[in-house]
Amino acid sequence: SVPQINRILAHSHHLKQQSTPWLLPHGTISRNKASKLRLPPQSLFNKTIALIFSKRSTRTRLAAETSAELLGGRALFLGKEDIQLGVNESYRDTARVIGGMTQGIFARVGDHSEIEELAKYSPVPVLNALSSLWHPSQVLADLMTLQENKASFRPLIEKESQPTGAPELDRPLTIAYVGDSANVLHDMLVTYPRLGHHLRVASPVQYRAPKEVWDRVVELGCDKGIWWGEDPREAVHGADVVVTDTWISMGQEAEKAERLQAFHGYQVTEQLCREGGAHHDWKFLHCLPRKPDEVDDEVFYGPRSLVYEEADNRKWTIMALFDMLFGKWNLLEEQPEK
Ligand code: CP
Ligand code: NVA
Repeated sequence: SVPQINRILAHSHHLKQQSTPWLLPHGTISRNKASKLRLPPQSLFNKTIALIFSKRSTRTRLAAETSAELLGGRALFLGKEDIQLGVNESYRDTARVIGGMTQGIFARVGDHSEIEELAKYSPVPVLNALSSLWHPSQVLADLMTLQENKASFRPLIEKESQPTGAPELDRPLTIAYVGDSANVLHDMLVTYPRLGHHLRVASPVQYRAPKEVWDRVVELGCDKGIWWGEDPREAVHGADVVVTDTWISMGQEAEKAERLQAFHGYQVTEQLCREGGAHHDWKFLHCLPRKPDEVDDEVFYGPRSLVYEEADNRKWTIMALFDMLFGKWNLLEEQPEK
């Protein structure tokens, strides 16, 4: 829900502000300052979070492992070669057994039904670390990065910062997504319109969001905030932010040739955004890992690119999720909408 998203983001900013100085190399903080520094909450003390990952990961895994440690607990990485899952054992039995020995499950799966099955039978909370349909923790890091860069999106009416410390984005942004309708985009579709931002998407017709994703978009009333077409130039019109993802997601390697052909002309470049009429100060986001097919080096390594801040923020948002869901379990209680 929107209040939950806002609470997670506020907590992510708080954890980052609180913990970043603490993580600096020894000796770089003055003695005065050091006395005021505080560890993040030790809510995972004596707790273990199972990372059930059936696909590769750099950022999500690193964020999870380092976050669990800072929260005083442990993340146990269980790759597909390590456990019986998928070969000798069902998702149902795996969920019950792993959930019986740990306090939370963060799972990266193939088909989305696999995480549904884990969640159905696990006695402890299950968080999605990426599935065929969704990548919910990614959009949190993207939002956090946009909030931190709010000065780039002027004119803004400065508001007093919230007591929680989350910098508010108090003007609706126009966010353009150019590329494959995959898990990363799907969470943007169900998130940005609810926060009042406008989403403009360009993807080839044959690579549009599947029905179950679109049904959810409509159910949440997000369809009204989304423009969808085939022309990347039209999509970036008026964009404050341009986003893309790989054209070949994990598991789609066999479709490489046809995908490269279908996405011809979708590469994010300065020229494309200039011709399409993006805002002159547009910024760029990409979940990573990146290939030059979908964005050229000039944009990716240029001053518009927020990609490494975005990658860093995977840590603080995942730490907030772990603290709130696995450490304190208070996200499970739905709070009334304000
Ligand atoms: N953005 C992201 O999920 O990266 P990894 O696949 O490396 O975890
Ligand atoms: N769409 C990509 C995202 C990687 C973080 C994939 O699923 O491979």
